[in-house]
Amino acid sequence: MTDQQGFVLWFTGLSGAGKSTLSEALAPVLRARGRRVEVLDGDTVRTNLSNGLGFSREDRDTNILRIGFVANLLARNGVAVITAAISPYRATRDANRRLVEGDGSRFIEVYLAATVEECEARDVKGLYAEVRAGKRSGFTGVDDPYEAPEHPEISVPSGREPIEASVQRILAYLEAEGLVSPRPEYAAVQR
Ligand code: ADX
Repeated sequence: MTDQQGFVLWFTGLSGAGKSTLSEALAPVLRARGRRVEVLDGDTVRTNLSNGLGFSREDRDTNILRIGFVANLLARNGVAVITAAISPYRATRDANRRLVEGDGSRFIEVYLAATVEECEARDVKGLYAEVRAGKRSGFTGVDDPYEAPEHPEISVPSGREPIEASVQRILAYLEAEGLVSPRPEYAAVQR
């Protein structure tokens, strides 16, 4: 088996922008192209690796640096890593980029560019309603900062295109960069 170039698809965007949904849709597609894939989802990480952390800048940074640390370990062993946390601070995302690229893997920032109005209109978890009702504060995009990427490798108009189009958008980038094979590995076998 040939060694595969590891990479990190670093999703960033507001709560409800569709990071988890897109990562779940993308992972099986990458597996079908013969990649080993791990998803580091914000909610999952917060119940395990980052249990006990809150949403101060310091705690968010700790959370994001932990995700970056694990993502790097996986990527340098050839894994295709998808991270799906808000990661609101540019400097912290950039620190992870330096870590990953310094170890020889690709870091691909994927901006899920849904506005707070769009995320709030869906409000899947009902959290925006709690914020508006005064039951929750320090919420990203409402009364806590979100620093959008200035030059993301990929920008996804999430919520304004079908999820399948977003998957194809990312896949096209990975194919163009030679990070996934252009055709499902098993297509020949299935035929
Ligand atoms: S991050 O800022 O550290 O990157 P992370 O992605 O792990 O955040 O967790 C975000 C999730 O925590 C949101 O989708 C939401 O469900 C929940 N959450 C709870 N409190 C907040 C808050 N104050 N700001 C943003 N998200 C919050």
